[in-house]
Amino acid sequence: MALKNDRFLKALMREPVDVTPVWMMRQAGRYLPEYRATRKQAGNFLKLCQTPELACEVALQPLQRYEFDAAILFSDILTIPDAMGQGLYFEEGEGPRFQKVIRIAKDVEQLPALNVTADLGYVMDTVSLIRRELNGSVPLIGFSGSPWTLACYMIEGGGSKDFRKVKEFMYNNPEVMHLLLEKLAIAITDYLNAQIRAGAQAVQIFDTWGGILTTSSYFDFSLTYMKNIISNLIKEADGRPLPAIVFTKNGGLWLEAIANSGTNAVGLDWTIEIGDARKRVGKSCSLQGNMDPFILCGSDGTIRDEVGKILESFGNGNGHVFNLGHGISPGINPDKVSVFVDAVHELSARYHS
Ligand code: CP3
Repeated sequence: MALKNDRFLKALMREPVDVTPVWMMRQAGRYLPEYRATRKQAGNFLKLCQTPELACEVALQPLQRYEFDAAILFSDILTIPDAMGQGLYFEEGEGPRFQKVIRIAKDVEQLPALNVTADLGYVMDTVSLIRRELNGSVPLIGFSGSPWTLACYMIEGGGSKDFRKVKEFMYNNPEVMHLLLEKLAIAITDYLNAQIRAGAQAVQIFDTWGGILTTSSYFDFSLTYMKNIISNLIKEADGRPLPAIVFTKNGGLWLEAIANSGTNAVGLDWTIEIGDARKRVGKSCSLQGNMDPFILCGSDGTIRDEVGKILESFGNGNGHVFNLGHGISPGINPDKVSVFVDAVHELSARYHS
């Protein structure tokens, strides 16, 4: 079935569009009261992810309120380590935690291979269900964490302020670290391809913690593995290209290298000026981003002004998907999201004539 609104896919391929497409990282989530109600119904966040009907419901909620140009699968990047036996749980207000943590070489050597169909079938069921319910209205984005970002959580046992454990592991046991990243890259490739087969029309790799690395370790321990994944992804579905997006938070320093990784688009956080980013990547790929999520705390006028500045900085022409520079914060007033989305569509038309 032809998509009614395919501006998001077109922009990722640097094709002409009428207005700049927009979606938002964490667009389904705690800032929405209807999300909190469905999560309550599920019991907790993990059960919500594991119940396809409810995960589908929350993925669609933001599209009922706002004119987003894409939907994103509702799940979490930590489903992979969970499926590999690490025992994911969430402490209220404390973020993700693992029962089993990777500490020594044996833990990596014994890490089981991921069986996507058996262990993450619920994610593929959610993908098919969302795709069916979208009924061709907008495309569906699948996603995964990057090998490095997943390794951070698996070695730290949860979030971290200084990433001491994962860096200690990397600097003391680089070969074992590479083995872990290799295992994760294989799992992620299978997982993303399974999402594509189930109906995802674009995929994003979240490299949330790539930006804590030195330049050489970013290339060796993060980017290389994302490149491998991208080169092994299904490249076409439903007779159109299947674009990939790489989002390395704090990765502005390495923009050219990320742009040349084989990805179709680079996700930008708010620290980089998007017009400069565009000059640096040239025609090699499109750009996604990059408004500071906390601008949504500002007045309607401030939000419109900031949207306008980013559009002006990018300038005329194709290859821009509007987004926040990271996920929306739970405390944001949902009305502000309409102001944001509508501003992108209204103010961008003149850059696409
Ligand atoms: O964007 C979307 O709407 C899709 C859903 C999505 C979630 N997590 C839902 C979620 C996506 C794409 C993610 C990815 C994810 N998960 C990342 C990468 C993106 C990023 O933010 O950089 C990371 C690092 C995680 C790991 C994780 N999961 C964290 C750090 C947390 C937050 C814990 C907290 O209490 O703030 C989660 C939980 C999570 N994932 C929530 C949602 C909606 C909140 C859970 C809740 O309902 O309480």
